[in-house]
Amino acid sequence: MSDGPSLIRDLEALEQEALEATADATDPDDLEAVRIRFLGRKDGRISGVLRGLGGLDHTERPAVGAAANRVKGVVSAALDARAASLAAESGPDSALDLSLPGRRAWAGGKHPITLVLDEIWEVFRSMGFTRARGPEAETEWYNFEALNTPLDHPAADEQDTLYLEDSVLLRSHTSPVQIRTLQNHAPPVRILAPGWVYRRDTYDATHTPAFMQVEGLVVDEGVDFVDFKATLAEFARRFWGPGTRIRLRPSFFPFTEPSAEVDVKRVITLPDGSTRETDWLEIMGAGMVDPAVLDAAGVDSERYTGFAFGMGPARIAMLKYGVTDLRTFFENDMRFLAQFAPGGEA
Ligand code: PHE
Repeated sequence: MSDGPSLIRDLEALEQEALEATADATDPDDLEAVRIRFLGRKDGRISGVLRGLGGLDHTERPAVGAAANRVKGVVSAALDARAASLAAESGPDSALDLSLPGRRAWAGGKHPITLVLDEIWEVFRSMGFTRARGPEAETEWYNFEALNTPLDHPAADEQDTLYLEDSVLLRSHTSPVQIRTLQNHAPPVRILAPGWVYRRDTYDATHTPAFMQVEGLVVDEGVDFVDFKATLAEFARRFWGPGTRIRLRPSFFPFTEPSAEVDVKRVITLPDGSTRETDWLEIMGAGMVDPAVLDAAGVDSERYTGFAFGMGPARIAMLKYGVTDLRTFFENDMRFLAQFAPGGEA
């Protein structure tokens, strides 16, 4: 017949034995066997001692129970610590070399052109524009004819455009999205349409055969030249800063009349705190939508007017980041790209 104090002595002896066995274990299997031998629910030796609890006077039980819980906690913690140190010692090279350089945790970052695209979108979104998109494989009609560009126009020439098959091509600009949008949505229309476009260009510092464009289109009753210029001036100020000015230079596109090239002049702050204006830099083609374009899309050109613009985010990224060779954006050199990632250099 056991009594409380003798059970507690048994538990303390088991504690010593378990701690020694734990320290002697040399691999995880050994250690697991020790855990089962002492802490196992059914046949564990500590559980075995507790089975004697039933024969005790009820006044003695709490002290034995508390001792058993303490011993279980101590042995279990020792087993965990030993498991951790065995795991650290194993591995291909068990020596821990503190002189090795740390491993960098790579965080992905957005491509600089995507960053610029996001900023452009944010400005127009804040002015009430929504997004639109269209297919990259287009028909001659959407890419040229509906945009008031006859097929004998130089732009439609096979020298400049990548044809997939008869009358199907890779769109050479995002302007076909103007037509697709107007066919599907009655005015008022205020959209921004980013996407890839393709031209038969030689890959060099200022040309790539595939590049991004962002198309803008506004069509409503009473849209006039003042709305056109004010919207683009407001875009420039929100994108580059309050002092930015724009200039419209007369130009020609078959789908706008009048047409313009849009230039910006930015204010930059020098290291000494003084400010200086940059040269005029060309950022986009634009103009008032030609009534023939509205007619082709089934929009009443007597009632509605509008303006449109198209810009290249890569060109804007070059101006913004001082990049002089367009190819840098496509070569995926991590030393270049990492400069734009939140985590910094490669
Ligand atoms: N689509 C023209 C280009 O690719 C740009 C443009 C868009 C011009 C809209 C005027 C209006 O060069």
